[in-house]
Amino acid sequence: MSTGTMPPLNAATRYCAVWGHPIRHSASPAMQNAGLAALGLDWRYLAFDVRPEQLATALEGARAMRFIGLNLTVPHKLLALELVDVLDESARIWGAVNTIRFEGRDEAGIWRPLAAFADALPESVRSHGFNTDAGALATSLREDLGIALAGARVLLLGAGGAGRAAALKLASENVACLYLVNRTITKATELASEIQTRHPGLRVQVGYPTETVDLVINATSYGLKPGDRSPLEGADFRLTQTGAVYDMIYRPAETPLLRAAQAAGCRTANGLGMLLHQGADALEIWTGQPAPRAIMRAALERNIYGV
Ligand code: ATR
Repeated sequence: MSTGTMPPLNAATRYCAVWGHPIRHSASPAMQNAGLAALGLDWRYLAFDVRPEQLATALEGARAMRFIGLNLTVPHKLLALELVDVLDESARIWGAVNTIRFEGRDEAGIWRPLAAFADALPESVRSHGFNTDAGALATSLREDLGIALAGARVLLLGAGGAGRAAALKLASENVACLYLVNRTITKATELASEIQTRHPGLRVQVGYPTETVDLVINATSYGLKPGDRSPLEGADFRLTQTGAVYDMIYRPAETPLLRAAQAAGCRTANGLGMLLHQGADALEIWTGQPAPRAIMRAALERNIYGV
């Protein structure tokens, strides 16, 4: 597929956007605009710094202006659960909304994506919330590390928003056992009991495994900042106990955890693949067309690593 060029901005240009607070360092506009250009769409993807207390107002604005769709990032993913008109199964199951599609009612009374309305935009519009993060994690683990989750033993670090969605996804993919570790232990305990209730057959344990595992996933934000170390430093767990390590952090490309894992001989991957697939899946939800993933990946790598 060609990388394409975007038509100049004009009065018929349609809009998507990512909202977060802060948002300045988001790589999504680079990735999504590359995807839109390759698809030859007269659309643009923008980024806005939206405060959480103004999320509802901003959503009303986007609906009134007939935006095609939105991505939401920190701190909006949980708040949006209460604000969208319809929740897709994915958002309900994973407990967060990272993608919104605006939909209009056609003449037959059927709700269709706003992308399907060319000239006359519909009078009544609703917001439909999805979650593409959890599926993107599984896709990236399979593609980047060759991991089949069914039957795998996994140590998951982090029980915040990202950790919770990852744990629920791993459980639904029938991992054999799940070890949960979090700085604030009560959060790991609460998450473990939630998962145990939903998946009674799964072995869930709070704390480090003594046995070997197939995969360690870092879903904490520790490793993002200069000066951060590996979240496993000083832990009762050696990297020789795992075959692979996945760090959801993608900036820096190589966190102290990934460096240590490579030194220990593990297969490693950072979170760029997850970022790519959550965005590409969102683009497909808005357009109904296959997303140009290779082009979007190249745009991400250029934006984040300058390569
Ligand atoms: P996200 O949506 O990115 O998951 P979050 O819900 O704020 O953001 O969760 C951040 C995660 O990183 C949590 O697991 C947090 O641990 P706590 O629950 O104890 O706060 C973890 N985290 C953040 N800073 C950390 C640090 N310095 N050391 C270890 N874990 C850290």
